[in-house]
Amino acid sequence: MVAAFNGLGGGAAVCISFEEISGFTDCPLPVILGCAIGAITFSGSIIAFCKLQGLISKTIKKTNFLLTSNILFFLLTIASGIYFHIDNSFINIFTLAIISSIWGIVIVMPIGGADMPIVISVLNSFSGWASVAIGFSQQNILMITVGTIIGISGSILAIIMTKSMNRSIKDIFFIKKSSLKNNIFMENIATTGSPQDAAFIMQNAQKVIIVPGFGMAAASAQHALKTMGDLLQKKFGVNVKYAIHPVAGRMPGHMNVLLAEANVNYNDVYQLEDINREFSTADVAYVIGANDITNPEAKNNPLSPLYGMPILEVAAAKTVFFVKRSLNTGYSGAENPLFFAPNTYMLYGDAKKVTEEIDKYLEQSA
Ligand code: TAP
Repeated sequence: MVAAFNGLGGGAAVCISFEEISGFTDCPLPVILGCAIGAITFSGSIIAFCKLQGLISKTIKKTNFLLTSNILFFLLTIASGIYFHIDNSFINIFTLAIISSIWGIVIVMPIGGADMPIVISVLNSFSGWASVAIGFSQQNILMITVGTIIGISGSILAIIMTKSMNRSIKDIFFIKKSSLKNNIFMENIATTGSPQDAAFIMQNAQKVIIVPGFGMAAASAQHALKTMGDLLQKKFGVNVKYAIHPVAGRMPGHMNVLLAEANVNYNDVYQLEDINREFSTADVAYVIGANDITNPEAKNNPLSPLYGMPILEVAAAKTVFFVKRSLNTGYSGAENPLFFAPNTYMLYGDAKKVTEEIDKYLEQSA
């Protein structure tokens, strides 16, 4: 939804720039910028939307062809902007919009995996800057003010995400090549656990760290999770903490919002940098509907689409439970070797149902 709304903002800026050229005599720079940034935002956001909805492949390799096209369309966008500056005709602004739209597609098409949240933040910021440019051309103070707030907040979010994901904007958009590894791990065998085993091990633990991910959100398992945490804390005296990765789920702050909705105590919720050292002292890491954010390939495999992203070090816990429906990959499409680690037990099933089963066993145990 965020991607679609960004796209609408960009598309609106393009439409206004078309309308604007009918009467102006002043410098057309704001119109050029509004049209170009708006068109990039519009087409880039549509591609991002399709990727997030699974309508097109989440990751397309950054081939030399795409990287060369990226630079080519960057130069063509500048050239068509200059040409429009010389000759303010409708056909020239239309050409600028088309070329910028193609550039937006070329930019976003090869981006996926751990880079997607950053792309969304950048497009969000672009929709604000497009509105600022058009606001100048229309001399509309409200558009300039609101656009600046969106532009700056989107830029700040993009910088925060870039830092926490250990990325650079230049690498994401222009350089870094990514590729997916094949299903080499699928030949291994994962150990299956049951909700009853998990309840028994956790009620006898001293420290349990819960790691929520997209699957928890998809299953709406936050209330069952809160019940599990409360039972462990209050009935069995277990030290329970929640670990949040900056890109867990599908939008910034996704997990924080859901845990808050379930009334999880905010003091029990820790960010990655504050909790990572604690996994080695935890008896159990309960990973619920999370995958990419725990994948050690992000540290070990330079070919992984996740490479360079910091992860939650769940493998350091004595026992790791992964609650998910299958051995399928997460958003990035990268296989997770942790499923086959000797201290990992897979709890197959819907995140909410499995957690409710565990709650039932915890309630029944003395
Ligand atoms: P993912 O790596 O996407 O893993 C989620 C896992 O949840 C899947 O492997 C899936 O496995 C499982 N799942 C789905 N529905 C489930 C259900 N009903 N019950 C139980 N499990 C379920 O999620 P993550 O670990 O949270 O990582 C986030 C990923 O999304 C990162 O790659 C990140 O870059 C990307 N991303 C994030 C954002 C933001 S801003 N947060 C935006 C765009 C993209 P099964 O199919 O086997 O159940």
